[in-house]
Amino acid sequence: MKPQEIRVVERLQPAPDCVELVTEFPDDELPAPGQFYMLSAGDGRDTYLPRPLSFYRTFSPRRLSFLFRVVGPGTQALAALRARDRLQAMGPLGQGFPLPEHPLRAVLVGGGVGVPPLWSLGRALQERGCQVTALIGARTRSGLLGQAELEALGMRVLTATDDGSRGHHGPVTDLLAGLDADAVFACGPEPMLGAVQSFAASRPVPDTYLALEAAMACGYGVCLGCAVERAKPDPELGPYGTYARVCREGPVFRWDEVKL
Ligand SMILES: Cc1cc2nc3c(=O)[nH]c(=O)nc-3n(C[C@H](O)[C@H](O)[C@H](O)COP(=O)(O)OP(=O)(O)OC[C@H]3O[C@@H](n4cnc5c(N)ncnc54)[C@H](O)[C@@H]3O)c2cc1C
Ligand code: FES
Repeated sequence: MKPQEIRVVERLQPAPDCVELVTEFPDDELPAPGQFYMLSAGDGRDTYLPRPLSFYRTFSPRRLSFLFRVVGPGTQALAALRARDRLQAMGPLGQGFPLPEHPLRAVLVGGGVGVPPLWSLGRALQERGCQVTALIGARTRSGLLGQAELEALGMRVLTATDDGSRGHHGPVTDLLAGLDADAVFACGPEPMLGAVQSFAASRPVPDTYLALEAAMACGYGVCLGCAVERAKPDPELGPYGTYARVCREGPVFRWDEVKL
């Protein structure tokens, strides 16, 4: 798969250290919720490898946004883009969230910049008649992302902050205890995903899915840099069955498929 040139349509700044780039693609291939793109600023000849980002909102089949925290050189270069600038995008990549065939009570759990893939997922679940509750968490209230955008889709949103500055005072996963869930879909930092794994095992909620992050070089299964240990080796894959590639078999895994 080759990178394609896309265009920035609008640049938004929803939090001091976060940027949302609304972009326009040349074709109208809509990604599935949970899939991602490898993005790089500039003309593709820059020093840095492309960086993996989930897509966030879809405005039309060609218009998608990306919401990211600026943490290092790759995201700094992306954050420096302005309307009408061009960038390189390869994707959509990876396996997205499985969507249920029948309506159910779905709970989305997003920590920090884990919220982006949950917007399109929540909308797809609502289109299938699901009752959707979103739990979003952050260290402090300025880091809570996507609340207004998720509420605008008509879903109930509960918040949690580590410092108690908004919503529940404590980990966002504490909020799971008070909800009836047939399915849970989570994206966020590893300790949060670990707590969701424990919830899925203890309740139990077999239909629990986790979107993982890993440092990625290629994004399409070749470099093996994103491997995570499987909970149970896959004997059909021989020596390669101990690990799964986050970019290829993931980033979404069922809660009991991987070791965190
Ligand atoms: C499938 C996928 C989807 C993602 N979606 C989003 C998103 O929607 N929004 C968003 O803000 N971020 C997302 N990320 C994380 C994002 O890719 C990294 O923050 C980015 O690559 C950092 O690049 P950098 O050059 O700015 O910083 P670097 O200099 O590469 O890293 C800065 C710091 O972030 C850490 N880091 C780098 N990459 C990752 C990673 N993949 N996971 C965890 N820590 C990392 C490094 O260890 C270092 O401490 C996603 C990651 C994956 C794998
Ligand atoms: S990033 Fe290269 S194999 Fe996954």
